[in-house]
Amino acid sequence: MKAVPLSALSAIVLSVAACQPSGESGGKGDSKVDFVNDVKPILQTQCVRCHNDQSLMGGLNLMNRELAMRGSKRGPVVIPGDAEKSPLYRVTLLPAEQDHAMPATGAKLTDGEKAILRQWIDEGAEWPEGPEGTLEPVSIEPTKV
Ligand code: HEC
Repeated sequence: MKAVPLSALSAIVLSVAACQPSGESGGKGDSKVDFVNDVKPILQTQCVRCHNDQSLMGGLNLMNRELAMRGSKRGPVVIPGDAEKSPLYRVTLLPAEQDHAMPATGAKLTDGEKAILRQWIDEGAEWPEGPEGTLEPVSIEPTKV
């Protein structure tokens, strides 16, 4: 049996370490934000319940890329490459008492979640087509009897 060369082992250790979330900053550090793993869960749990086919609050539907890119009744909400100009990110920064602060009710996003949205938009707001990029309003499971 041949021993695995040490250099190969340390390369593995290093690449595993590089995948760890960066912790304090809340963002993803050097690694790119991934829509399906990072962004979708935030929109899915915090936003889509009010921004979907049935509940078009502010005229905004976040169920897929095409609909989201149509924006709200006030215009585009995602400007790929520029989070600071994107209402989708900006509304999450507003203090809760402001009218446009999002989510409109309930808990605010954590700093980590805001950082993910910001990084995702700054990186070009990639949002896949098809089932991967489709969000459903979270519904409350009916109690089974
Ligand atoms: C409880 C319902 C509710 C939830 C949850 C919610 N919104 Fe909204 N949203 C609204 C309503 C109502 C409006 C329209 C009034 C307004 O613009 O303040 C709106 C409007 C918006 C707009 C348009 C603002 C503009 O200036 O055009 C954006 C962008 C938005 N929401 C993003 C989000 C995001 C991102 C989340 C999740 C972090 C979210 N919303 C969660 C109810 C909600």
